Amino acid sequence: MISPVRSELTVSDNVPFGHPSAGSSGGYRFYALTLERPEWKDWRPGQFIMMRPAGAADSPQWARPFSICRVTSQGLVLFFRVAAPAWERFARLKSGDKVVVWGPLGTSFDVRPDTPTLLLARGIGIAPFAGYADKHPDPASLFLLFGHTYPSSNYPTDAMASRMELENLRDHTPEELEYFHTVMREKMITYRQRGGICLACGPISFLYRVWKDAVELGLPTQLSLEQRMACGTGVCLGCVTVTSQHWADPAHAGLPVQTCTSGPVFWASDIDLDARIPGGKG
Ligand code: FES
Repeated sequence: MISPVRSELTVSDNVPFGHPSAGSSGGYRFYALTLERPEWKDWRPGQFIMMRPAGAADSPQWARPFSICRVTSQGLVLFFRVAAPAWERFARLKSGDKVVVWGPLGTSFDVRPDTPTLLLARGIGIAPFAGYADKHPDPASLFLLFGHTYPSSNYPTDAMASRMELENLRDHTPEELEYFHTVMREKMITYRQRGGICLACGPISFLYRVWKDAVELGLPTQLSLEQRMACGTGVCLGCVTVTSQHWADPAHAGLPVQTCTSGPVFWASDIDLDARIPGGKG
């Protein structure tokens, strides 16, 4: 069990990725934010932090969850997308600014040396797999299939390709997306036959597809539902998912759990993404 720590950290760098476009801070959508290295004893890929600019009102509405991308000797790296106005303040952070960080938080991806491991990511879901490849004792056993709507220059694929085998496919059009899904399913079948595991992170529509295939094929698969999180603290109830009959605690099987307090990483067999969330839209 890793105990979360509250730290005030200095921004080292905040580098925009890709090409500017209208509608986000400075015209960029994607940023690699590097903070000074926190004094954590340890962390695991798949975990997240909560972060807010220092000096901002000490209110939960200022803090946002960030998937941990990497922790290097230089610092803590977060890769994020400006998907809504609330993220603009993080895009404006610059070297020397201070932020308040709480973490590492949550569950993490399984690491199995000598096991073929298929990594599936779409869009910003690529972030935790940089650190996963860094920490894995046998990166030759990893293969990352990455689907992306924006051009690949928006994502840190070049750095990641030096650590593991990586295939990236543009999925901008419906035809491209369907092709990506076809390749993804073929890979999952292959990894099932090889006795491997699968780890996935990305938008919920993508994870639903992975979940369906994983359950049908019987491929041991973990999903990070981190993109469901908003407040990250168990307050907003926006991140609820429903457990399956395989949930470790039978008393809570078939009941809602919050991604931020019980995840964000779940085994596909432990959750039921077809289940209607009580009080939700179904
Ligand atoms: S993110 Fe708000 S309750 Fe989980």
